[in-house]
Order: sequence, then C-alpha cells, then structure tokens
Amino acid sequence: MLLSLGHEVTALDFSEAMLAVARRKHAGNGSVRFILADAERTMEPDETYDAVVCRHLVWTLTEPEQAFAEWFRLLKPGGRLLVFDGDWSKPTPLGRLASVAVAALERIIGHDPHYDGAMSERHGAIMERLPFGDGLTVERLLPLIEDAGFENIELPSRRPIAAAQRRNADLRNRLRTFFYRRFFLVCSRPSGNAAQVDHFPTH
Ligand SMILES: C[S@@+](CC[C@H](N)C(=O)[O-])C[C@H]1O[C@@H](n2cnc3c(N)ncnc32)[C@H](O)[C@@H]1O
Repeated sequence: MLLSLGHEVTALDFSEAMLAVARRKHAGNGSVRFILADAERTMEPDETYDAVVCRHLVWTLTEPEQAFAEWFRLLKPGGRLLVFDGDWSKPTPLGRLASVAVAALERIIGHDPHYDGAMSERHGAIMERLPFGDGLTVERLLPLIEDAGFENIELPSRRPIAAAQRRNADLRNRLRTFFYRRFFLVCSRPSGNAAQVDHFPTH
C-alpha cells in the first residue's frame, strides 16, 4: 500500500523467512529496501524517516519501551508513527459468538489447515512470555507512547478497513474479523518548533 502511494519504503523483520515472502512479493520493485533487523534496535540513522508503520508487531515486542524510543529516534521531527494492532489474548463478547459460528461452519466445510492445534499451542506458549501476552489495549499503550515523547495521539476508526476486509473475505474469514478488538493509533514526534522559539526568541 505504501509503495502504491509512491513512498520509498524500508521493510524490516528479524525473520529471514518473513522477509523472503516480502521480497518475492515485491521482486523487481526498486523503491523498497529490505533489512533483516530488530525493530527494537534497528541500527538505522537518527531522524531519517517521515513515518514508521507497523501492523501486528507491537503485541510481539519483548521490550516495547525500547521500541518506542527507537522509533522516536528514527523519525524526523514532525514524523508520524502508525500502530495497527489488537488484543489477541481474548475474544470480544461478539467474537465469542463468531467463534462458535466458525466452529459450526467448520463441521461442514472442514478445518482451516493454517490454524492447526499445534500452532495454537505454540502461540499460547509464546504469548505467556510476552509483556503484552495478557492483552494489548489502547489503554496500556497510551502511557508508553506518551513517555517516549510522542504527541498528537489519535485513534482513527478502523471501521472502513474492517468493512473492506469483510467485503473481500469468505464467510469464515468474515466471521474472524469479529474475534478480537483491534485498533489504529497515530501519533507524531514533536516538530521541534517550540524548542526553536526558546532558542531564538523574537523581540
Ligand atoms: C504477527 S507477525 C505480523 C506480520 C506482518 N506485519 C503482518 O501484518 O502480516 C509479527 C512479525 O513481527 C516480526 N517481529 C517480531 N518482533 C520483531 C522485532 N523485534 N524486530 C523485527 N521483527 C519482529 C516477526 O518476525 C513477524 O514477522
């Protein structure tokens, strides 16, 4: 999506397998640079990026405070951070109903091979060891984002995205969009104008 809007993109993951999928998807596209790096310590230079965008990453972080400080450092003054994530630890009340409906549906159409029992056991074992393993919510995220120095925090509605997902998904995946509470959070690194006024007062 970012490429289609004409941006130059650096794509980062610390899993070579995940990067390989992304490289295959964008083979031949010169405006994307792939790096194998830790999002919490990227080793990228200070103040180089206009935006940092992550989807379904924050819940997996082992040191979230370190990650937010790192993303603040990477952004140019005025640069923006977009976090798209959710609380994957427990379904919403509507999600519980939807999962009953999926279970009933799967008795007819069969199980999704992407979601086998071994995978969900591994997922559970990993969740137990993560800071957000018991749930990533906006309420838990906000103080960390503020402490890192971000401002202009907004929580845009994700309804248009959810509606688009439902339009394009089969029934099982449409029901799955109801399982968990997801959110968007947008904020920015201060532009630095206030500091400039302090240093160069007008008379
Ligand atoms: C749940 S997947 C989401 C993948 C993709 N962003 C998406 O939305 O489909 C989480 C990804 O974050 C990567 N990841 C987790 N912690 C990371 C870190 N500290 N640095 C770099 N990548 C990380 C994992 O390797 C995995 O590919």
